[in-house]
Amino acid sequence: MNLDLSKIPSHVAIIMDGNGRWAKAQGKNRLFGHKTGVKAVQKIVEESARLGIENLTLYAFSTENWKRPEKEVTILMTLLVSSLKKELKQMTENNILFNTIGDLSKLPGPVQKELKYTIEQTQNNSGMKLTLALNYGGKEELTQAFKEIAHKVKNNIISPENVDETIINKHLYTQNLPDVDLLIRTSGEERISNFLLWKIAYAELYFTEILWPEFNESHLHLAIHDYQKRERRFGKTSEQLNA
Ligand code: FPP
Repeated sequence: MNLDLSKIPSHVAIIMDGNGRWAKAQGKNRLFGHKTGVKAVQKIVEESARLGIENLTLYAFSTENWKRPEKEVTILMTLLVSSLKKELKQMTENNILFNTIGDLSKLPGPVQKELKYTIEQTQNNSGMKLTLALNYGGKEELTQAFKEIAHKVKNNIISPENVDETIINKHLYTQNLPDVDLLIRTSGEERISNFLLWKIAYAELYFTEILWPEFNESHLHLAIHDYQKRERRFGKTSEQLNA
């Protein structure tokens, strides 16, 4: 398949779903699903950078994921630390800038430490920005933004009339990310699940039945190919766009 390299989405976000179901179908435990999921992450990160995607944002752990069995939460955190350690070299070689969104203060200490280290080590890289959403929830992101703005209004730092989209954006975890162009969700579920609510306002949505551990480079190409066929009108008419 030929992708139009002049129309690569600048911001791709992915809800990586289906690790558990994939493992079950293999007669394996969920840990095996997540481990294989990490391998898919590695492949997709590398291919995204190669294609010239500027921003790749992955939903790794939501504010709701704490409700999972404690053992699974521990496994996910352990996998995260080992993956960061293992992938730092690769990220550096690929000029990837690593970043996170979400409330990191609730994550275990060693996870916070490794995240901080990886962010520091990659902050001068100028290639693709890879953002992991960790303890992230779209509603929580908006709530903490509104709370901060309310404090500033109360203290006369901002006047209520001046609260606009730019000001709201400046208080989001995603303040330094552009709007999402393409949102992909694997595993056949067709939901947003509290991901990037503000930044997906005009995102193209792409759902695939493929379970995350099986999602590979060619599936990413299919998603981008589908995106490239779409007409993004941003509220305008087709005629206006073609004029
Ligand atoms: C969904 O599968 C996946 C997650 C809970 C988060 C994604 C995690 C990974 C890809 C592995 C760890 C990631 C990093 C970055 C180290 P699921 O468990 O919800 O699958 P199910 O719906 O089939 O049960």
